[in-house]
Amino acid sequence: MAKTAPVEDWASDFDVMDPEYIADPFNIWDSLRNTCPIAHTNRRGSNWLPTRYADVTAIAHDVGHFSSLEVAVIPFDDDEPEDPVLPYGLPPISADPPLHTWSRRMLLPWFSHRRVEGYEAMTRELCKGLIGTFVDDGEADAATQYAQQIPVRVIAHILGVPNDLSDTFTGWVRDVLEFADDPERRISGMEGLITYFVGEVAQRREQPGDDLLSELLRTEIDGEPIEESVVLGAAALVLIAGVDTTWSAIGSSLWHLATNTEDRVRLNSEPDLMATAIEELLRVYSPVTMARLVKQDVEFAGCPMKRGDRVLMNFPSANRDPEVFEDADKVVLDRAVNRHLAFGSGIHRCAGSNLARMELRVALEEWLSRIPEFRLADPAAVTWAGGQVRGPRTLPVVFP
Ligand code: HEM
Repeated sequence: MAKTAPVEDWASDFDVMDPEYIADPFNIWDSLRNTCPIAHTNRRGSNWLPTRYADVTAIAHDVGHFSSLEVAVIPFDDDEPEDPVLPYGLPPISADPPLHTWSRRMLLPWFSHRRVEGYEAMTRELCKGLIGTFVDDGEADAATQYAQQIPVRVIAHILGVPNDLSDTFTGWVRDVLEFADDPERRISGMEGLITYFVGEVAQRREQPGDDLLSELLRTEIDGEPIEESVVLGAAALVLIAGVDTTWSAIGSSLWHLATNTEDRVRLNSEPDLMATAIEELLRVYSPVTMARLVKQDVEFAGCPMKRGDRVLMNFPSANRDPEVFEDADKVVLDRAVNRHLAFGSGIHRCAGSNLARMELRVALEEWLSRIPEFRLADPAAVTWAGGQVRGPRTLPVVFP
């Protein structure tokens, strides 16, 4: 089956890049959960798509059978040579233990509660400044003029790279994640990113600072400096993992508030709901799907998974499983119990979740304080990206 052919049967021939799936995967998951909870496809190789919370969680925790050596939802072509600059990919996300364990440990302090508190003031100023550029116009693209602009600048600050390259970074990250089905674009995006970081690393060796890149170069494991390829991979990961994901979460949340007057009014009048509202918006509009590589033949929940098959970690569908969440498809701003999987589960659980939550909260607080009432300018003009990261890419709103 050609990877672009329209999907006739979601259970046996799904395609996460199908326009129908990108626009509205929710009905597809609902129907699969009831009929074929782990779907399969032979497009882009043999891939499985679990849709239930219990299955997604079990696979995420079974690192013995399910490896993270291939986490891209759109796999690389078989004949693509391995990247000589990044033999380990982007650790820790693309690594199994033991590399996973120490490379994750080396990143975690940068995203602790205490560190993240330190990034809040600059994030707030950034959001205020962005809103200031369009608030008097009565209209804006909440995706391109707002959501998209925030995470990349916060990450640039943490990495110690210049702010004025933000658009270039965004372009590279989109090429790697959003346009991954076009190998030329994906490869050139990755090359752009890595070439840039190779230059930055050389510069930090000459003139170290107190940013993440300099610190990674100073870090020693068992008395030895870390291999440069791991430093490059981890730095590139922070950019790739922190940009599209968070901007998609901010954009989807603003889309929800633009299209659901009741929730918007409630959040404006009960700002104390922000903490639970954020968890709920993350649950319902979870942006991220990851992949796992089957290490050895295994029968999982009756599915004969073969070595080399891939499993798409459908965290977004798990989060709408009615077995676990009452009114699973509904946004309940004060949902009390919410063990959602938007940040994954198990050893690879998102290392940047404190930062993501802070950015989402500050972005919504600042938007609602200046633009409490807003709606879509034209629902047909909204566009969504999907595949590895789902979120709005064009989101024109009006606030007359
Ligand atoms: C709303 C925004 C975000 C979402 C929904 C999200 C989601 C995820 C998910 C689902 C994983 C698990 C991957 C897997 O199981 O293979 C993950 C891992 C990761 N995320 Fe995030 N993420 C977000 C923001 C961020 C930010 C802001 C950063 C930091 C700059 C970040 C850094 C990472 C890292 C380093 C990992 C790899 C952890 C590991 O492999 O041990 N993420 N993220």
